[in-house]
Amino acid sequence: MTSPDPPLPSASFQRRRAPPWKVVGIAGVSGGGKTTLARRLLSALPTTTAYLSQDQYILPSEHPGHPPAPHPLQGLNKDTIRSVDVAKMEADVRRFLSAEEEPALEPADAPFLADRGSFVGSALRAHNPFCGRRQEASVLPPVLILEGFLLFSHGFFAPACDLRFFLTLTKERCRQRRSRRTFTASAMSGGEYFEACVWPAYESALAEVVAGVDDVHFLDGATPADDLFREVSEKVVEILQLPKEAKEGFPHGHMAV
Ligand SMILES: Nc1ncnc2c1ncn2[C@@H]1O[C@H](COP(=O)(O)OP(=O)(O)OP(=O)(O)O)[C@@H](O)[C@H]1O
Ligand SMILES: [Mg+2]
Repeated sequence: MTSPDPPLPSASFQRRRAPPWKVVGIAGVSGGGKTTLARRLLSALPTTTAYLSQDQYILPSEHPGHPPAPHPLQGLNKDTIRSVDVAKMEADVRRFLSAEEEPALEPADAPFLADRGSFVGSALRAHNPFCGRRQEASVLPPVLILEGFLLFSHGFFAPACDLRFFLTLTKERCRQRRSRRTFTASAMSGGEYFEACVWPAYESALAEVVAGVDDVHFLDGATPADDLFREVSEKVVEILQLPKEAKEGFPHGHMAV
């Protein structure tokens, strides 16, 4: 008698299981270079890398959650955690990290990378706000980069990170960098908004991180971008190398720059 054919694996068995992601958090001052650094890591790390920015979770301007800017300024203060849909971002990160199936990483899912103006608030509507680059050949664990000016101001994100970076700038340099930018709301570009909203938000975020978040690497955002990138990418690659693999002379892979 022949034994019956073994049952076909169900669809869920045929899917590839998600690998254990390493999470890198980049927080810090407005204009400090968080997005610049995150994008460079996204394109250069020698492994599959995904990128999610807190900017995608800034509530649309018409949302009642934004506090008003302090008197006598008109308009909204979008530089507090109340302007960020942190619950949605946390839910997305949890879904991403616990996915049984490898998440989609196609840039088509993330038009936000092309134009900041078009993505503010878009995560509230888009199903998959992640963007990434898959590197099938890499034996290193994949990396999820989280980035945002108030990333460590909400309890979930700092402990979720395997590595934490915080960019700093002097007030004058921060003001200079912002003066070169265009904002979705013109009220956010003025010097009064900077004094009343941007800089106080940064000072309190910095104080919170110093007092309450362990193992943060503080980086001076005035350091040349190449040096910052080198320092951060070396630390990331270090945590990707498991002890066993390191002992066997683990290859670094090619790091694009
Ligand atoms: N290390 C650096 N040295 C000099 N200029 C830099 C450096 N990093 C970034 N910049 C420039 O500073 C500006 C702000 O950079 P970026 O947008 O990356 O900052 P950010 O921290 O993401 O700001 P925000 O929180 O407002 O989104 C850009 O014009 C960028 O080219
Ligand atoms: Mg940015």
